[in-house]
Amino acid sequence: MSEKRNTLTTGAGIPVGDNQNSITAGHNGPTLIQDYHLLEKLAHFDRERIPERVVHAKGAGAFGYFEVTNDEISKYTKADFLSEKGKRTEMFARFSTVAGELGSSDTVRDPRGFALKFYTEEGNYDLVGNNTPIFFIRDAIKFPDFIHTQKRNPRTGLKDPNMVWDFWSLSPESLHQITYLHGDRGIPATLRHMNGYGSHTYKWVNDQGEAFWVKYHFISDQGVKGMDVNVADKLAGENPDYHREDLYNAIENNDFPSWTLYVQIIPYEDYKTYKWDLFDVTKTVSQKDYPRIEVGKMVLNRNPENHFADVEQAAFTPGNFVPGIEASPDKMLQGRIFSYADTQRYRLGVNHQQIPVNRSKADVNNYQRDGYMRVDGNGGSTPNYEPNSLNGPKEDPATKISPFEMQGVADSVAYDSEDHYTQPGDLYRLMSADEKTRLIENFVEHMKPVEKDEIKLRQIEHFYKADPDWGERIAAGLGLSVPEGVK
Ligand code: HEM
Repeated sequence: MSEKRNTLTTGAGIPVGDNQNSITAGHNGPTLIQDYHLLEKLAHFDRERIPERVVHAKGAGAFGYFEVTNDEISKYTKADFLSEKGKRTEMFARFSTVAGELGSSDTVRDPRGFALKFYTEEGNYDLVGNNTPIFFIRDAIKFPDFIHTQKRNPRTGLKDPNMVWDFWSLSPESLHQITYLHGDRGIPATLRHMNGYGSHTYKWVNDQGEAFWVKYHFISDQGVKGMDVNVADKLAGENPDYHREDLYNAIENNDFPSWTLYVQIIPYEDYKTYKWDLFDVTKTVSQKDYPRIEVGKMVLNRNPENHFADVEQAAFTPGNFVPGIEASPDKMLQGRIFSYADTQRYRLGVNHQQIPVNRSKADVNNYQRDGYMRVDGNGGSTPNYEPNSLNGPKEDPATKISPFEMQGVADSVAYDSEDHYTQPGDLYRLMSADEKTRLIENFVEHMKPVEKDEIKLRQIEHFYKADPDWGERIAAGLGLSVPEGVK
């Protein structure tokens, strides 16, 4: 058949005779089980929902490209897609809220996910960041507990500030991130008006084997704009899909959003002496110490043809690095390298890397076989073991990771620094008087419903330690006083 048929068919391609009336026994009789089209239609519909992402369920996505604008970047990394000025790589990006369910409102106070997939010639590179340069916690072992507090109370099925503030007040490393969150950047005006950050420190390695630590900053070319909380609250009711709609419309109208990527490059040895632990994701690295260097531009210029196919089925994995880009010992990053592909094997299936949006544009050659939904020919008649004498694919030692020296005993230990206050305090002091007032109002509104004063006072102590003025103002807003022992 050369011409494309326009006849409705079953999943097996068989023409359907009637799509309006099911087959019944007699004019008013019961439906016959032989109406296979009806059975298949209902059965397929019954299975339409897949598990939503356990976090970052609500999101919007688009395709685009990344173009290198600086010829100097190959000094720091041998990653092929960054090798020369003008080099373009196709991309897919997905932006999301964190805590809400698939149908939740876009304009809530929450970090925004900033997940990027670069379809490079050396395989897919995924950079799965947020619109904040830091995070709430710094060890993966706390992530499930933290997320439980952001979701619903198991008894009431309601969001619960008691859980949120109990956890945060007992986890002072969260102070820096919650300050970002309750400030003007806590609700972006649109997904186009926010920056993206890699957040963790990553490792880059050049073709001489020299290693560097790197921090990624995607700066919005549209500018950074927050949304007034009253507007956000109203929109949450009137148009829960406001951000998704804005991104879709901008791209449909050829108003392509773009971001300029800058990196901070940190000499390898500095991790031993820098004033902050480079691998502690609750801390930023000063741009005075390590200025930003421009790398290139990311442009989003194509909406997916089908939201489920591309946005819902997208699978980003912090473990997907390409040669020249590597993990750091950050304890959060290490946990994430396990968690994403693990949840995706559950959410989408073991062969989810074959779904078009996730499929590598570089050849995939390995000895993985079988499993549900294997749709790529399954390696055909090629050998399914290695080593073999049949000319099957072999490892390439040139792509081995660079070594990282370490010593010590295996133990459960915290990061050395317990200073959770200097950086949030600096952020507070940087704010204008108006922004400070809005920050305090946002905190007070969020903390007011907490039932136990004990929790509020514990949190006030953290604000006070970061800046006494901050602690005093929140205490006053809540009708409490900073405890004498804290002053
Ligand atoms: C999504 C786990 C920390 C950014 C997810 C998902 C899981 C997860 C299981 C769902 C993935 C899927 O279903 O495809 C974790 C764990 C963390 C952690 C265990 C800490 C140990 C972070 C941090 C960031 C981040 C620090 C940002 C810097 C994201 C983003 C998504 C996501 C952007 C959505 C990806 C998408 O659009 O599909 N996370 N996460 N997460 N996470 Fe994390």
